[in-house]
Amino acid sequence: MNLIDERLEELKSKALACSDCPLAQTRTNVVFGEGNPNTPLVLVGEGPGANEDATGRPFVGRAGQLLDQCLAENRITRKHVYICNVVKCRACIIEGRSVKNRPPRQEEVSACYHWLKEQLEIIKPLVILSLGAPASNIIIHKDFKMTRERGIFFPTQYAESAIAALHPAYVLRQHGAEFEAARASLVADIAAARRKVMEIKKELAEKAAPQPEIKPAPPQELNLF
Ligand code: URA
Repeated sequence: MNLIDERLEELKSKALACSDCPLAQTRTNVVFGEGNPNTPLVLVGEGPGANEDATGRPFVGRAGQLLDQCLAENRITRKHVYICNVVKCRACIIEGRSVKNRPPRQEEVSACYHWLKEQLEIIKPLVILSLGAPASNIIIHKDFKMTRERGIFFPTQYAESAIAALHPAYVLRQHGAEFEAARASLVADIAAARRKVMEIKKELAEKAAPQPEIKPAPPQELNLF
């Protein structure tokens, strides 16, 4: 465990006891986030659904399976990246015996924001891939429009650069050719984020060492980027 791992574990243990908003009353588990805290690439979704609430892990339902496939097509696994959400507890409506997902309310997003901010301040990723418009409104800018601004790099306070991709749950709601196109765009945006990481790393290495020099990759980074 290095200092980043330790600080993130400490933050996680505080988040697991959070009762800052009413979502604490209906959640089963806080879905803090998981993956490699020493990664240069963080993925941010909107908030947990039923499977995530049941397991305490982000993106483990159908959307998560699609996300894993799209990452795998870029030769990325969950060990290479860190995955978390804007809101850490499931937002739901309880109607009799049925429980349905709903988008988190503005006040829930605001109450939860400090966890995400602190998480990103500890990890200090080079690039963030925000999944869907709600996450992009927080990470990129508040008036973010997916149709116009998807796939474009923006500077952000949380990382050197951020790019938005279609949310995998949105991709799953498409059919036929629309599904294929949306899925391809998610794969392409992950590829772009990965290339951006490599580009920024190269720039940083050049700034740090003006004399051309071949250095071995740092040990904890699985040699991907
Ligand atoms: N959708 C999200 O935005 N996050 C999850 O963790 C799962 C589904």
